[in-house]
Amino acid sequence: MELYEALDRRRTVREFEDETVPVEVLERIIGAAFKAPTNDHMRDWHYIIIRDKKVTAKLLDIIPKEISDEDMDALIKDWDLSDSTQQECYRNAVPKQYRMLFDASAVIIPLFKQKTDILHPDNISHLNGFASIWCSIENIFLSATAEGYGCNLRIPLGNEAEYAREILGFPDEYIMPCFIGIGKPKSGIVPVKQRAVDIRERIHRDMF
Ligand SMILES: Cc1cc2nc3c(=O)[nH]c(=O)nc-3n(C[C@H](O)[C@H](O)[C@H](O)COP(=O)(O)O)c2cc1C
Repeated sequence: MELYEALDRRRTVREFEDETVPVEVLERIIGAAFKAPTNDHMRDWHYIIIRDKKVTAKLLDIIPKEISDEDMDALIKDWDLSDSTQQECYRNAVPKQYRMLFDASAVIIPLFKQKTDILHPDNISHLNGFASIWCSIENIFLSATAEGYGCNLRIPLGNEAEYAREILGFPDEYIMPCFIGIGKPKSGIVPVKQRAVDIRERIHRDMF
């Protein structure tokens, strides 16, 4: 698939067919992740691929399995979401947080090494490791799309990341930025509309 086509086709996928992503495809996709730019030339990343449903169930046990309509309304209000497309995205995504990972063919956990306190950086360069892993994650999304698969992601909330560390046994100096679910997109699912952006209003020539 041509790059611009993959960019167009990549959408967050939260519902999957019951179909396995072959190991060799997963390895190709992780290989693409390691082609991303890196802040310190080290590409000090690891990816845990979880395909064993028993491990998946344990790992995700901490994620709420559903949300009531009242809690959803309260969340929209609390987070001050006034844009209708944005509200639609959250109403679509929040109730699917558990199943979008549990029903995925595999859950992928990216890990990056962080030497300083990521929550209290002295300057923006202390966030370089975090920025690099996200370049790498985008390569996963695009290569999964090019392979005919789809991905979703969840930012760990509360103590989900520390719980994942316990379950998966990754060392203290590594941080997981997100959970990734990957699988064959369920047929017939229409993704939520992306918010339209007129790029001519976002490109500035010579001055803002
Ligand atoms: C930094 C970041 C955090 C995100 N967090 C979540 C999340 O916790 N749960 C989720 O379902 N989607 C999450 N998403 C996916 C967005 O909801 C999604 O990318 C957005 O709605 C646009 O849709 P699209 O990816 O189909 O273009 C996140 C995306 C990014 C880049």
